[in-house]
Amino acid sequence: MKNKSKALFGLIIILILVYPAAAIIENVLSETQEPGDVAAVSESGSEVQSISMQYTLRVGREIYMDYCSVCHGESGDGLGFNAYTLETKPRNFSDAEYMNELSDARLSETISEGGRGVNKSVLMPVWGNTLSPLEITYLVGYIRQFSRKTEAE
Ligand code: HEC
Repeated sequence: MKNKSKALFGLIIILILVYPAAAIIENVLSETQEPGDVAAVSESGSEVQSISMQYTLRVGREIYMDYCSVCHGESGDGLGFNAYTLETKPRNFSDAEYMNELSDARLSETISEGGRGVNKSVLMPVWGNTLSPLEITYLVGYIRQFSRKTEAE
C-alpha cells in the first residue's frame, strides 16, 4: 500500500516536471511554423468578416421585417399582406434577373427618396426621413439576399 502511493506520488512529480517541458517544446515548434501561423491568422480574419456579415444581414432583416415586409413580403416576393391593395405591385426582390440590373446605389436612392424620387410609383414610400443612410445600406444588403437565394436554387 505504501509502495503504491509512493509510485503514484512519483508519477505526479514526473508529470509536473514533464508538462512545462512539453509546453516549451510546443511553443518553440509553433514559432518555427510560420506558414501555418499565417494561415491561422487569415482563417480567423475571414471568420471575423463572416461574423460581421451575419451581423449586418441580421440588422437589415430586422428593419426589413418592420418597415418593408408588409408590402414586399417576408420572403421578398412582393406579396406582402398589403400588396393586394396597391395598384402598382411592390417589387419582387427574388427576381434575380431584374435585381441584377440595379446597382446598390440605385437601390439606396429608391429606398431613400421613394418611388416619387426616382420616377416610380408613389406607392413606394420615402424612407430617407425615417431611416439613416447606414440602415438603408443594411437594407440593400438584405434585399440582395432574396435574389441570391433564388439564383442558388
Ligand atoms: C406601402 C407599400 C410599400 C412599402 C411599405 C415599401 N415598399 Fe418598396 N415598393 C413599393 C411599390 C409599390 C414599389 C414599386 C414601384 C414601381 O415599380 O413603380 C416598390 C419598389 C421598391 C424598390 C424599387 C425596385 C426597382 O424597381 O427599382 C425598392 C428598392 C424598394 N421598394 C425597397 C423598399 C424597402 C427597402 C422598403 C422598406 C424600408 C420598402 N420598399 C417598403 C411599395 C412599398
